[in-house]
Amino acid sequence: MRILITGASGQLGSYLRDEWLSQGSDEITGWCHRPGADRPGPASSPVDLTDDRAVEEALREADPEVVIHLAAMSAADAVRRDPELGRAVNVLATERIARWCGERDRRLIFASTDMVFDGERGGYREQDPACPILEYGRTKAEAERAVLAIPHGVVARISLLYGPSRSGRESFFDRAIAALRRGESQTFFEDEFRTPLHYAIASRALAGLATTDFAGIIHLGGPERVSRFELMTRVAHRLGLDQGLVRGNRRADVAAAEPRPADLSLDTTRLAQVLPLLDRPTIEGSLEISNG
Ligand SMILES: NC(=O)c1ccc[n+]([C@@H]2O[C@H](COP(=O)([O-])OP(=O)(O)OC[C@H]3O[C@@H](n4cnc5c(N)ncnc54)[C@H](OP(=O)(O)O)[C@@H]3O)[C@@H](O)[C@H]2O)c1
Repeated sequence: MRILITGASGQLGSYLRDEWLSQGSDEITGWCHRPGADRPGPASSPVDLTDDRAVEEALREADPEVVIHLAAMSAADAVRRDPELGRAVNVLATERIARWCGERDRRLIFASTDMVFDGERGGYREQDPACPILEYGRTKAEAERAVLAIPHGVVARISLLYGPSRSGRESFFDRAIAALRRGESQTFFEDEFRTPLHYAIASRALAGLATTDFAGIIHLGGPERVSRFELMTRVAHRLGLDQGLVRGNRRADVAAAEPRPADLSLDTTRLAQVLPLLDRPTIEGSLEISNG
């Protein structure tokens, strides 16, 4: 199966490449934005998603049967600061890739986000209407519509991801762990809830979805609804770090340019039905995988 991963150089893309390679697949094309010679693993080809012609040519060359579209302006704050670029990367490029896949009957799996919801009640199911309050969530919700309009389009709404970076670039997780190791306290919200998922499990889920016939929306989240504070307290404990350095605060304590959704936890019943063999361990169990 010829697979194209856009955003292969990113945090999730690095794990997904490893997942496919561990399955013995050698028909993978990975795209990045800027070439990064210092990155570990196989090189990705630079393709700027805002360049229509470059995208068309690169798609023709790769001729994928399945596209796993991870590339995005993934930081909510970056999209808020530059909504035009955010829309070009997150919406217009997704529309272009969806059109290409739709015209050729190819499968497209699109990485969306729990931030398509407003966080007012949590436990969101796939049939709940998108109601984003962040510009980033609005771009993803708009892109979702293009993916759902093609026959083999899959919208995978992903919860907060965690785990050590394999991309050669630090993630929030790496920064926090490094600071805790240095004995510096770190503060996380106690009143903001997600269903976090380890990068390794998310990439197994995406690889699994590529081999099913499933089309439509599916929520990719972990088995537990926790705050960032609980997540990082348990991570610190599991890694033998000083839990006392993990401090809690509340959303109201911190001024924010955009409102922070309170509870973006996802109902993942459908994921368990579509991928019954996918093991989703607890936070502690997931950290075992990344150490193994
Ligand atoms: N991380 C999370 O907690 C989370 C949660 C929910 C959903 N998601 C979604 O999951 C996907 C992967 O997230 P991630 O954390 O792996 O993101 P990431 O580390 O920020 O990676 C983003 C990827 O997109 C590429 N990219 C950015 N702008 C591009 C452009 N103009 N043209 C081509 N490629 C471009 C980057 O290339 P370079 O490396 O060359 O810059 C990189 O490979 C994203 O769609 C994100 O929205 C993530």
